[in-house]
Amino acid sequence: MVKVTVCGAAGGIGQPLSLLLKQSEYITHLSLYDIVNTPGVAADLSHINTQSKVTGHVGAAQLEEAIKDSAMVVIPAGVPRKPGMTRDDLFKINAGIVRDLAVAAAKFAPKAIMCIISNPVNSTVPIVAEVFKQFNVYDPRRIFGVTTLDLVRASRFVSELIGGDAKSLYVPVVGGHSGVTILPLLSQVKGIEQLSQEQIEKVTHRIQFGGDEVVKAKDGAGSATLSMAYAGARFALNMIEAIVTGKGGHQIECTYLDLASDPEGANQIKEWIGHDLDFFSVPVELGPEGVKKILPLGELNSFEQKLLSAAITELKGNIMKGSTFITEDPKL
Ligand code: NAD
Ligand code: LMR
Repeated sequence: MVKVTVCGAAGGIGQPLSLLLKQSEYITHLSLYDIVNTPGVAADLSHINTQSKVTGHVGAAQLEEAIKDSAMVVIPAGVPRKPGMTRDDLFKINAGIVRDLAVAAAKFAPKAIMCIISNPVNSTVPIVAEVFKQFNVYDPRRIFGVTTLDLVRASRFVSELIGGDAKSLYVPVVGGHSGVTILPLLSQVKGIEQLSQEQIEKVTHRIQFGGDEVVKAKDGAGSATLSMAYAGARFALNMIEAIVTGKGGHQIECTYLDLASDPEGANQIKEWIGHDLDFFSVPVELGPEGVKKILPLGELNSFEQKLLSAAITELKGNIMKGSTFITEDPKL
């Protein structure tokens, strides 16, 4: 029995993500939680003739039932950006939403794999980690910031320039999930030699600020939802496969996590980023407990090393902001 709970399931990401999770042959119970509309979304999805049972839960009074005993909790709950906003501008509202959902998960599903989509991911993941520490149930191998959309975009944008099948083009993207903290390692991509340095810098910028393209095009109606649902489902389904079969899916995923999840594997990365940055997106081999192994970053060229310095400075502030939101919270 694999129960997966989606928190924020009635939203722009939550609905298509739940639809994609409904396709999984590994999930037996899909539990949909939101503060609005989940009974309708659940009734609708429950007519699809795949194996999972679908339940809808609405409002805080039903959160325990929604989350209880889940093997995985996916969180796309919270507000999205409007043009002119940064992801950090969402902290004010989303930090409290993610904290409350993390408290429920720590109490009622402390072993769940946590997949955090809500922005600003660079800060919301440290929030979840701190909550789990406060409840003495913290296992850094089980808490992930979903940065898969950056990988999906990177392979799409780069393949448009160098040709080939976008889906099978692996472009590592490490660091964090906002602007300059998004660090594509294009020097490691086969075929990249075809591009001039100017093209590389342009496509790097496009990957870093791909989210803004969608926010601008949606013109006040939100941010990426469909591509995010696709990316979120790719990550969640890889993870579910690892939980059920003991092996990760077909792709190595880069994901934002506490490097304490595999101290030995993180050694090489710590040499690059220093020892006082705890959270970073890295390539990971997934296993039944979440992180099986952190994989090496590989070599960075001088352009990427410069990008890395900028990413580190911003990430430090983002991580501190998330952690102190919990450590200085008088209610916890
Ligand atoms: P949305 O407004 O369409 O949906 C959010 C849903 O969250 C709504 O249904 C809302 O009712 C629900 N919600 C609000 N408070 C809640 C609570 N306390 N408990 C449960 N549910 C609650 O927004 P969206 O477009 O789906 O985006 C959701 C979040 O995902 C945003 O923060 C956005 O920035 C982020 N996002 C992240 C990535 C990424 O790559 N990690 C990509 C796209 C969007
Ligand atoms: C994205 O990368 O599309 C998301 O983080 C949403 C956003 O605010 O850009």
